[in-house]
Formats: sequence, structure tokens, C-alpha cells
Amino acid sequence: MAKFLVQKSGPLNGEVVISGAKNAVLPLMAATILSEEECVISDVPQLKDVDVMKEILLSIGGKIKSAEEGVLSIDMGNIEKWEADYDLVSRMRASFLVMGSLLGRCGRAKVYMPGGCTIGARPIDLHLKGFEALGAEIIVKDNFIEAIAPEGGLRGESIYLDFPSVGATENIMAAAVLAEGTTYIENAAEEPEIVDLANFLNKMGARIKGAGTDTIKIEGVERVHGASHTVIPDRIEAGTYMLAAAITRGTLLIKNMVPDHVKPITAKLRESGVTVELADEGLYVDASGDRKLVAADIKTLPYPGFPTDIQSPFMSFLTTVEGSSTVIETVFENRLMHVAELNRMGANIMTEGNKAIVQGCKHLEGAQVIATDLRAGAALVLAGLVASGTTEISEIYHIERGYEKFTEKFRAIGANIMRVEE
Ligand code: UD1
Repeated sequence: MAKFLVQKSGPLNGEVVISGAKNAVLPLMAATILSEEECVISDVPQLKDVDVMKEILLSIGGKIKSAEEGVLSIDMGNIEKWEADYDLVSRMRASFLVMGSLLGRCGRAKVYMPGGCTIGARPIDLHLKGFEALGAEIIVKDNFIEAIAPEGGLRGESIYLDFPSVGATENIMAAAVLAEGTTYIENAAEEPEIVDLANFLNKMGARIKGAGTDTIKIEGVERVHGASHTVIPDRIEAGTYMLAAAITRGTLLIKNMVPDHVKPITAKLRESGVTVELADEGLYVDASGDRKLVAADIKTLPYPGFPTDIQSPFMSFLTTVEGSSTVIETVFENRLMHVAELNRMGANIMTEGNKAIVQGCKHLEGAQVIATDLRAGAALVLAGLVASGTTEISEIYHIERGYEKFTEKFRAIGANIMRVEE
């Protein structure tokens, strides 16, 4: 098993170029299933999760070429089966995103129960309610889920989501593209990744309006065609590097990012005393010098609220500022597992249900810790950069699922991080 060894590194300085967004590219790749013609996706990050999605597409009959780094040509002309294998789906929750497109294109889809990060129960009831509303029959048996479209195909319908689930919005939107009639998704998720997917689907000939608002209208079309698309930059990766500058009291120019996508992170960093300024190519984050950084309260919410994926990296930062901060996690029910690990490094964080109280200004010490999920892993790396001694982080496969060239990018800005195989 590989590990990261992280040592106290001093202020991180320089430039980082943000990669294409993991959470955008996965639904885009799944959506290529809708087209009989080849689609080309650019700025595809090299990630374990992307590899899993490639394997799923190949396993159902897809052909994938990569003429240059970061560009995938995906040809789903011949779909041989409408079933995603257990060993692939169990490795990544986002595999479930193939269900909507398979159901739309083939009228049938069978997908095993999804795996992925262990951050709460993460049910899929909203996805299934959506497919059912479009007329599909849902069979849940053993550990698989099968959806079967009615005679004549899926039919457009109004669907209200009890919670603006990102995955359910994406899956239902994809399923509705080839449905007969018009579908409305109400209380839809508004994340930038939803807009990216709608833009790609529209390039393929879909008729989608309102993505990025809480009501999405999808007018069904008979077929879609191939399209080319560039993935949006990863706002969570950008947020992680913003926090890397903040926690190490460094100065970073973060390039190839959309500043609007990280507004809540910018606002909270500024509240804390960090300088965040618009730059020509992205954002300039400066926490250097003899400045006083203070506590800030965080409450995670669906977009445009504070992103749950940045909650744990932000908490690492809060352990280093003056005063007491309250962090409330409202999106996932069990996403404070990093607290125990940060406390092992000397942090003083108390939890009560989904709330954490962080007493700042603690001196962190290197320890052996576990990356309990993808973003928790990033949070521990950030803490390790300011902790005395060595922080040994295990189960780093979580981190490698979602951050492209992680050690390479961190080392280039002065981080003392090494990947070792045991
Ligand atoms: C996506 C992101 C993930 C991010 C999350 C919230 C991808 C690949 N992953 O995950 O990084 O943390 O959005 O921004 O894009 N829920 C239900 N029933 C459902 C679906 C979801 O109750 O059918 C609940 C979940 O348990 C969770 C909440 O809704 O508590 C949010 O989940 P959702 O928005 O669906 O997240 P994902 O799409 O899984």
C-alpha cells in the first residue's frame, strides 16, 4: 500500500495550474453513451476515477482513443450490453451515472449498487424516483438495480427532488434527453458541473434549458449526435490549493480556474484575513507576512453555498488561526471523520452530531493518520505541511482518485511530500 510522507514545509509559493474537474468529466463520459457517434472530451484529468469510468464504457462495448494527453475520443456506437459490472461500480459511486444514459439509449440498464467514499449512507432513492417518474420500472434485487423503460420509451414528466442531489440531477437529465415529451427537474442541483453536462448534451443536440437554476427543462429529442467539449476546471482542486496557500501562510497564483465557482471559499478566506484577488488567469491568494488570521464559521450547503468537498481542507486551516470556529456539515451525514485524525495531530476539535467546534492556534504535530475519504485525505496533507515532524498518511488511493498529479503539483510549489510504496 502506498503512503504519503509529509513534512513541515514553510510557506508554499508560486503557481499552480488547475486540471479539468473530476466531478464534471465523469458525468460527461457517462453521457457519451447517449450518442451513436464519437464524442471528444478535452482537459480530461488523469485520475483513478476516470480510469474506472473508461473501463465501464469499454466493458459495455465502447471504443476509447487518446491521441494526446488529456483528450479522449469515445465511440459508443455499438453498445453490447446495458449492464455495468459489480467490480467496477463498487470501486466508484459515480459509476451509477451510466444508468440514466443507458436507460435513455437502450431502454434498459442494470447497475450494481455503487461504492466510493464512505461518507454516510448516500442513498440513490432520488435517482430511482426520477427514472420511475419517466415511466421506468425499477427492480431492486440482491445488490443490483435494474431499470426498464416502458413500451415506446421513457416519457417526459415533472420531477421534484426532495434534495438538490448532484448525481440525481445529472442522471435524470441524461435519461430525459431521448424521452418523448418534456421533463422538468425541480429543486435541481445548480452546481457548475450540472451546467457543464447540460452544455455538452446541448452540443450533442439535446434541448436543455435552465441548467444552473433550480428548474431544468429538457425537451426530448429523437436522437443525439457526436460533439466535442472541454471540461470545466476543477473548483474543488482550486479550493484545495487556495487553502494550501492559506494554511502555510504562502502566496499562490492559481491558474486555469473560474473565480465565480469558488466564491464561498474566497469569502470565508477573506473573512479570516487572507488576501484573495482576481488575477488575469485565475486567483491570487496571499496569506504571507505578519498578519493575524482569525476564526470563521462554515456551514456546507448545495451550490452556491459553501462546498462540502472543501469542508475538511478548510477545517485543517481553521486549526491554525486565532479563535474558535464552528463548522456545520449539512450535505452528508457522516463527513467529519477527519476530525479524529486531525486531533491525533494535536488539533482541538470537538464534535456534536454534524457540528464541529475548532479551537484554533494549535500547534500540530506529525502523526500516522488515515485518509478516510478523498477530501479528508487532502485535509491531512494540508495539516501535515504545517505540523512539526513527519505526517504519515495511509490509504492515499482515495486522494489519487480525485487529484491529478498531486505530489508533483505540491512539490513544485515547495511542499515536502513524498509518495512511498510499502
Ligand atoms: C457529488 C460529488 C461529490 C460532492 C457531492 C455534493 C460527483 C462525482 N461527486 O456527489 O464530490 O461531495 O456531489 O456536492 O459529482 N442523496 C439522497 N438520495 C439520492 C441521492 C443523494 O438522499 O438519491 C443525498 C446523499 O446521501 C447526500 C446528499 O443527498 O447526503 C448529496 O448527495 P449528492 O448531491 O447526490 O452527491 P453525489 O452526486 O453523490
